[in-house]
Amino acid sequence: PLVSMTEFLPKAKAGKFAVGQFNMNNLEFAQAITEAAMEEKSPFIFGVSEGALKYMGMEYTVAIAKAAAEKSGLPIALHLDHGSTFEVAMKCIRAGFSSVMFDGSHHPYEENIKLTKEVVKAAHAMGVSVEGELGTIGGVEDDISVDEANAALAKPEEAIRFFEETGVDCLAIAVGTAHGMYKGEVKIHYDIIKEVASKIPVPVVLHGGSGVPDEMIREAVQAGVGKINVNTENQVACTNAIREVLAKDANVYDPRKYLTPARNAMKEIVREKIRLFGSNNQA
Ligand code: G3H
Ligand code: ZN
Repeated sequence: PLVSMTEFLPKAKAGKFAVGQFNMNNLEFAQAITEAAMEEKSPFIFGVSEGALKYMGMEYTVAIAKAAAEKSGLPIALHLDHGSTFEVAMKCIRAGFSSVMFDGSHHPYEENIKLTKEVVKAAHAMGVSVEGELGTIGGVEDDISVDEANAALAKPEEAIRFFEETGVDCLAIAVGTAHGMYKGEVKIHYDIIKEVASKIPVPVVLHGGSGVPDEMIREAVQAGVGKINVNTENQVACTNAIREVLAKDANVYDPRKYLTPARNAMKEIVREKIRLFGSNNQA
């Protein structure tokens, strides 16, 4: 069965490794992620954004995740990614999600606490884990000035109080990464991660894991990151593989001919991330 993130996050925090959240966009993503994790004996999190949920449909999403858990025997959490309301979180929990993120980062601080607290209360009553978010995680634009980027970073004292008041199971804080592939240089604020991670008992979550150099990921994990989200790198690997097959042969019509290499490409990305995060042999 699908498990709450509390099945593996405390172990990750204590053992200084991170569990990957790999976003699921369709069946091939789910298969690639699960196969890589099975070979590496790693726990993992299926991240499902509201957009992906709309694309796949609730029933297929839950059924695919349950099938992956059953087939693999691994601790797998099915996690709503960047949930925007209490209602969508509850809808996912009712349908079988074992974990949810409530992203109240666009609300004022006190409001974010209040809303996150409500989700935590309801989710915990049902054995479902919750991730909260503080600060603003930027997009792909590389023309944002440093000042603007700094303004969006999470403040350690606020993050600590946010944890104390909400009781989330892990906390995403803006520390310099951005969603999407990076075009400019990445600057991760390890000092913020260290300060927050040393003062709360749950792991810090790093969003925007795609395109971050390996050495920076290792340092972030050592600083206290226990969950890392990756989506775009798999999307790019998937699409590049498909593009390559189609460019070579204009007569291909069987989807399996291009989805098989796409799935293999994603599997290798996930395998590398699992080893980099140190979650291999932790299932
Ligand atoms: O919540 C999802 C992640 O933060 C994905 O970020 O697409 O840059 O890997 P990414
Ligand atoms: Zn994210």
